[in-house]
Parts: sequence; structure tokens; C-alpha cells
Amino acid sequence: MMFLLSTLLGLVLNPAFIAGHITNVVLFGDSYTDQSRAHSIANGSFPGKDYQEVFPPADTAADGGVQWPWYLGLYGNYTIWNYAVGGAVCSNNLTPLSGEPDVAFGQTAWFIQDHIENYNTSQQRLLLDSSDFVVITFIGTNDVGIDSFVTFNESVNASLPDVADCQLNHLREMHALGARKFILNFLIPLQLTKLYSNSSAPTIYFPEVHDGNAWNQGMYNLVHSLNRILRDGIRVLNAEWAGDGTVEYFDTYGFFSEMYHNPTPFFNGSIPANVTGHCHQCPDPFNFTFCGIGDCTLAERDSYMWWDELHPSEQTGRNLAAEMFKKIEGKSQY
Ligand SMILES: *[C@@H]1O[C@H](CO)[C@@H](O)[C@H](O)[C@H]1NC(C)=O
Ligand SMILES: *[C@@H]1O[C@H](CO)[C@@H](O)[C@H](O)[C@H]1NC(C)=O
Ligand SMILES: *[C@@H]1O[C@H](CO)[C@@H](O)[C@H](O)[C@H]1NC(C)=O
Ligand SMILES: *[C@@H]1O[C@H](CO)[C@@H](O)[C@H](O)[C@H]1NC(C)=O
Ligand SMILES: *[C@@H]1O[C@H](CO)[C@@H](O)[C@H](O)[C@H]1NC(C)=O
Ligand SMILES: *[C@@H]1O[C@H](CO)[C@@H](O)[C@H](O)[C@H]1NC(C)=O
Ligand SMILES: *[C@@H]1O[C@H](CO)[C@@H](O)[C@H](O)[C@H]1NC(C)=O
Ligand SMILES: *[C@@H]1O[C@H](CO)[C@@H](O)[C@H](O)[C@H]1NC(C)=O
Ligand SMILES: *[C@@H]1O[C@H](CO)[C@@H](O)[C@H](O)[C@H]1NC(C)=O
Repeated sequence: MMFLLSTLLGLVLNPAFIAGHITNVVLFGDSYTDQSRAHSIANGSFPGKDYQEVFPPADTAADGGVQWPWYLGLYGNYTIWNYAVGGAVCSNNLTPLSGEPDVAFGQTAWFIQDHIENYNTSQQRLLLDSSDFVVITFIGTNDVGIDSFVTFNESVNASLPDVADCQLNHLREMHALGARKFILNFLIPLQLTKLYSNSSAPTIYFPEVHDGNAWNQGMYNLVHSLNRILRDGIRVLNAEWAGDGTVEYFDTYGFFSEMYHNPTPFFNGSIPANVTGHCHQCPDPFNFTFCGIGDCTLAERDSYMWWDELHPSEQTGRNLAAEMFKKIEGKSQY
């Protein structure tokens, strides 16, 4: 009887991610998630209310094709609201890079435009049903990356716990706006990318000789530290909300490690799986006009875990979308 009761309570306390209840997915993030917002900003057409993403062939995402949220929408029959922007960080106040709309302010402002009626008045109303949508945040790669923590360029008063607090406070803000279901993605094993490998050679994203070993080990440490702080912070948030709202982490680190170490089931291009190289080539790291010369073929593309020196491939994105669908349904081990 005690056992039955606690089992039932367990179910009652974690009703968040039940198949069939989710119809909308709201995403915040950077180029790992962005479909076309960064390109839209770059070409002068700043995304406004109900912005329609641009898909290939008109525009390609940073994975060389269609970004994973579109596949998530396909696999789960969800309406996707993707507010991610390439180059973004959690907060431009903390780790300003290129000044793209950040998760904490610019991207949240888009969500408010689309989904909050009479914002900041006594008639404020969320237009989505709190029980129907899940918020997925996948940010941090740029916050810890080049020109920031890994190269010791972060501002003197910015620490890793501040970056984690920014992510957690953003969830608090979304909660205040009425969101109740959250998934927070961990950072991936960035030390496995070419950019943050132990190679000291110039790359297109950092065309200078640099201390590859220091970057590689530094990034390993940064990713593990931020993920650990986030994991602990999530526990605090769940306690704070006391059942009125749930956040789970998605172990992006673990899932990418699995793809890296056991790639065969995940990659299906015309050549054996390749998790160390990347499809898209920039033969002259000092001149991007040569990028594209020496790329893998279209048939080979889905064999690669990485699209370029920093970004996961479209097939990695499909794998992520499939696993995230399982996560939303409460069936993922990650
Ligand atoms: C760039 O601007 C044009 C014209 O405003 C627009 O139609 C196009 O979709 C934009 N590209 C992206 C990626 O938004
Ligand atoms: C997909 O979602 C739409 C809108 O929520 C719904 O009308 C439709 O029945 C769903 N389709 C399937 C196959 O579940
Ligand atoms: C909300 O409204 C108050 C008073 O009308 C104003 O001072 C404040 O700046 C507004 N806040 C936001 C986030 O718009
Ligand atoms: C980062 O720091 C290095 C070393 O202090 C400096 O040379 C470089 O210009 C800085 N980069 C940025 C983007 O501030
Ligand atoms: C860090 O210091 C700068 C310059 O003094 C200031 O503008 C900024 O608000 C500070 N940031 C934080 C997070 O305290
Ligand atoms: C970099 O790592 C590779 C494999 O992880 C290793 O074989 C190589 O010796 C390392 N190179 C340096 C310069 O540490
Ligand atoms: C690989 O599998 C994905 C589904 O995960 C599919 O969409 C894609 O077309 C496949 N690629 C190839 C080259 O068969
Ligand atoms: C993986 O792809 C790279 C191209 O980026 C290539 O140089 C390398 O030889 C490939 N590795 C294997 C094991 O095929
Ligand atoms: C890059 O290559 C193009 C084409 O060869 C050339 O016109 C341009 O001057 C080069 N830019 C730099 C910075 O070397």
C-alpha cells in the first residue's frame, strides 16, 4: 500500500512530459538551434511578430541544412516557435559577443510579442495553454567559447555561476509569464569539435595560431562545470516551484558522447560514420571565400557528426530531434 501510494505520488508529482499533451514547443538558443533568424538580421529584415523561418534552398542553417527544431515538429507533430539566433548568448550584459538578441532579453521579447496579450498591464494574458507547451533552452556554447571564457576574454566581473544563473533566471521569467514545462539542454562535449580540439592550427572561426591544448582542456573544464552548476540549479528551481512547474535537464553532453563513441546506428550517409572530421571545408582559414571547396558530397553528408569546425550536422540534428521527442514523451534516458 505504501509502495503503491508513493508510486502514484511519483506520477502525480511529475506529470509534465506526457505524450499527447504537448502541442507547441518554444525554443531559445544560438546557432545550434537557429533556423534563419541570424541571417534575417544580417540581411536587414529584423524578425518581427509571427516571424516565418526561411528554409533551404532559400537559406541554410548553421548545420548546412534544416535545423533540428523543424524535425522535432515533424516527429512530434508540434507547432515550433523557434526564437534561437546564431551567435547569441544567454545575456549580452554578461558575455557580450556579437550583440545578437540574447535569450534573456531579445529572444524573450519575441516570445512576448507572439504569445502575451496586453503585456505588462493588469490584463496581461498568455495566449498559449500552459499545459500544452514545453520550453526548451539550449544556450551556453558562445558564452563559454572564443572571445569569452575559453580565451579569457570574459569581462572581469563575469563568472561561470553568473552564466548559469542567467539561464535559471530566464526560466523563472518564463515561469512568471505562465510557462510550466521546461527542458534545459546541457552543453555538448565542445572539446570534441575541431575548433576546441587540441590542434593549435588556425580555423575559420579563429584564424590564428593558438594554444590548442589549453583550449581543449579549458573547454572540457568549462563544459563540465557549467553543466554541473545547471544540474544543481534545476533541483533548486523544481523545489522553488513546488510542483507548479517542472524543469528537467536534457543531457545533451551524454547524448552527443554516445553518438561520438557509438556512431554507426546514428549516421547513414554513403560512407562509414565520421565523428572526427566535418563535411564543410574552408581550405584557407584566413579567407572564407574559399569555404565550400572540398566539401563532402550530398550522399556522404549524413555520415558526418559535424557540419563544420563548430556545428553539428543536420543528421546529428535529426538524431537530437528524435531523442528530444522521446524526452518530451518521458521515454528518454538522457
Ligand atoms: C532576407 O531578406 C529578404 C527580403 O527582405 C527576405 O525575403 C528573406 O527571407 C531574408 N532572408 C532571411 C534568411 O531571412
Ligand atoms: C497534429 O496536430 C494538429 C494540431 O494540433 C492536429 O489537428 C492533428 O490532428 C495532429 N495530427 C496527428 C497525426 O496527430
Ligand atoms: C511595465 O510598466 C511599468 C509602468 O507602466 C513600466 O515602468 C515598466 O518599464 C514596464 N516594464 C516592462 C518590462 O515593459
Ligand atoms: C581576448 O584577449 C586577448 C588577450 O588578452 C586579446 O589579444 C584579444 O584581443 C581579446 N579578444 C577580444 C575579442 O576581446
Ligand atoms: C560588469 O562591469 C561592467 C563595467 O563596470 C558593468 O557595465 C556591468 O554591468 C557589470 N556586469 C555585471 C554582471 O555586474
Ligand atoms: C591531441 O589529441 C590526439 C588524440 O586525442 C593525440 O593523439 C595527440 O597526441 C594530441 N596532440 C597534442 C599536441 O597533444
Ligand atoms: C538518414 O536518416 C534520416 C532519418 O534519421 C533521414 O531523414 C535521411 O534521409 C537519411 N539519410 C540518408 C542519406 O539516407
Ligand atoms: C573524416 O573526415 C575527414 C574530413 O573532414 C577526413 O579527413 C578523415 O580522414 C575522415 N576520417 C575517417 C576515419 O574516415
Ligand atoms: C580572399 O580571396 C579572394 C578570392 O581569391 C580575394 O579576392 C580576396 O582578396 C581574398 N581576401 C583576403 C582577405 O585575402
